[in-house]
Amino acid sequence: MDNRPIGVFDSGLGGLTAVRQINRLLPSENVIYFGDTGRVPYGTRSKETIIKYAEQDIEFLLDFDVKLVIAACGTVSSVFPEEKIKKLPVPYFSVVQPTAQAACSVNANGKIGVIGTASAVRSGAYGKAIRAIKPEARVIGKPCPLFVPLVENGMIADDCKITELTAKMYLDSFQAEDIDTLILGCTHYPLIRNIIAKVVGENVNLIDPGEETIKSLRSYMTANNMLNSNTKKGTRTYYASDNIDSFKEIAAKLLGEKMEDCSVVNVADN
Ligand code: DGL
Repeated sequence: MDNRPIGVFDSGLGGLTAVRQINRLLPSENVIYFGDTGRVPYGTRSKETIIKYAEQDIEFLLDFDVKLVIAACGTVSSVFPEEKIKKLPVPYFSVVQPTAQAACSVNANGKIGVIGTASAVRSGAYGKAIRAIKPEARVIGKPCPLFVPLVENGMIADDCKITELTAKMYLDSFQAEDIDTLILGCTHYPLIRNIIAKVVGENVNLIDPGEETIKSLRSYMTANNMLNSNTKKGTRTYYASDNIDSFKEIAAKLLGEKMEDCSVVNVADN
């Protein structure tokens, strides 16, 4: 058993979709969450900048003696290099591999859509991971850069017309592509899942990176005897780099809990 906390980070609120799954599948784990709300979005930035930010985020989490780190961010997961992962003192989990695996398992017609930030789609990481499992798959990628600011501004209600219009603009073309599976390649996107489902059609399987990553993490932790021995719900400690009040308000709604332990922090000087 290992009672140290799990470290989770994202550019903002999106990684909370992974925390939501920890609450469901690994509730007794202690969690330290960092959302880089002061520098969101990551997805429009250069690969070098994203890697630098991710290193600072990870450094911050390592100060808490975390037992592992989850990059609950499709953008970081797509570009963070293997050689840097190998040097980390604790296991590192990206969302790409488990999400690609889940998409390949449910995909029946060989056509898989991938939506994400510009950097994530440009990196081709999801496509590469899919083709390693299913070489014949046709992968259709589409960046949806406006989704992250919409979510960060709380425009996530199922009847939000602006988000629905934006979704139509990005996703209508998938109708002609005849995909049966769509990877929500950015962890912010499951927060507008119902709107996306309405636009692409209920017959398209939507794959949530937070859910798939935590399912695979649970198997890994069980196999490696890394689960927490608590029987009660673990602690949740949240940090954000700016706009703490709006982070708290939206996070409380998303997680259905009071954000009691939530502070602002600057990780850039780490
Ligand atoms: N949640 C991040 C992701 O999964 C959002 C990226 C951004 O900040 O642009 O890609």
